[in-house]
Amino acid sequence: ASYDMGGHDTYMHKEMSEQAEAVDRVLRGRIDDRFSTVHLGGLNLDAREARGVRRIKILGCGTSYHAGLIGAGLIEELARIPADAEPASEFRYRNPVVDPDTLYIAVSQSGETYDVLAAVQELKRKGARVLGVVNVVGSAIAREADGGTYVHAGPEVCVVSTKCFTNTVVAFALLALHLGRIRDLSVADGKRIIEGLRKLPGQIEEILAMEPEIEKLAKEYAGAQSMMFIGRVRGYPVALEASLKLKEISYIHAEAYPASELKHGPLALIEPALPTVAIVPDDDLLEKNRAALEEIKARSGRILAVAHQNQEKADHTIVVPKNENELDPILMGIPLQLFAYHTALAMGRDIDKPRNLAKSVTVE
Ligand code: AGP
Repeated sequence: ASYDMGGHDTYMHKEMSEQAEAVDRVLRGRIDDRFSTVHLGGLNLDAREARGVRRIKILGCGTSYHAGLIGAGLIEELARIPADAEPASEFRYRNPVVDPDTLYIAVSQSGETYDVLAAVQELKRKGARVLGVVNVVGSAIAREADGGTYVHAGPEVCVVSTKCFTNTVVAFALLALHLGRIRDLSVADGKRIIEGLRKLPGQIEEILAMEPEIEKLAKEYAGAQSMMFIGRVRGYPVALEASLKLKEISYIHAEAYPASELKHGPLALIEPALPTVAIVPDDDLLEKNRAALEEIKARSGRILAVAHQNQEKADHTIVVPKNENELDPILMGIPLQLFAYHTALAMGRDIDKPRNLAKSVTVE
């Protein structure tokens, strides 16, 4: 790790602050306005083959798995292909049924994570087609895959992934749009998503400019023993990733749950000492999410909402800019990276080198 910190105190801070330009890079040269689609040069999957895909299975570990969960949602929404994500480490040990009509996608920042590489090798041995969504050019997973797309986040040094997560999700949005336009996504919807993608870098800058406000909030929550993160459908993987970020660098215990599952158990934990971070986008599930906030408030739980408008039931709301519903998860995770960062800083943690963790896990 010999990259210049460029005036930042930590690599994590540097990398979070590079996200607008990183997203710009993953978009550059790929948008085709004439057909309202995108071109991804290295996929090695022609239109006829893409139409033959019946199912998509995304594999990754940790943050890359979470990016894959959002990616699966984007593929289902935009391309209407059944898609899901699974930790590569689980997949490879359960003797999975490998189906010839399924397209497999391996996700990795480093391209060297052993569990992901082993899953790719097992899949290839069984004759499956595997694409890579990878950051490090020429890495083992990129070389092993049949094709794929680079994430172009640039070098990520900090053990915890931030800009690569954001760029990976954007790369999945591009892939979903590409597959969607080969299948049934309309020109109008393609255009709408492209316009949304183009707005991302500017909106990311707006969120990064909220850092002083987020720092203040982080200081208020830094004493918590444990925190709950909730979200629903598009918001749930955002909650999972935000809780992982907090755990990794602050060592505060955190759990992520679908908001809809609260009443099936975790609601029993809610009390003033257990704050909840809630992802509350302005979409068709807004009322449902508000009902969850009410349930938490009725048990005197403290709430920090990440939303598109101020949430009355929340103690604090971080209001983020609105994009297209499908693309909102890309933006909603960013304030929570800053939140985890400032919580860890307030607690005096070594942010770039969290205990017990390595940047890439190249062993079993
Ligand atoms: C991210 O903050 C983590 N340190 C970790 O979960 C990481 O995402 C995981 O080990 C996968 O790494 P990869 O993307 O390089 O494959």
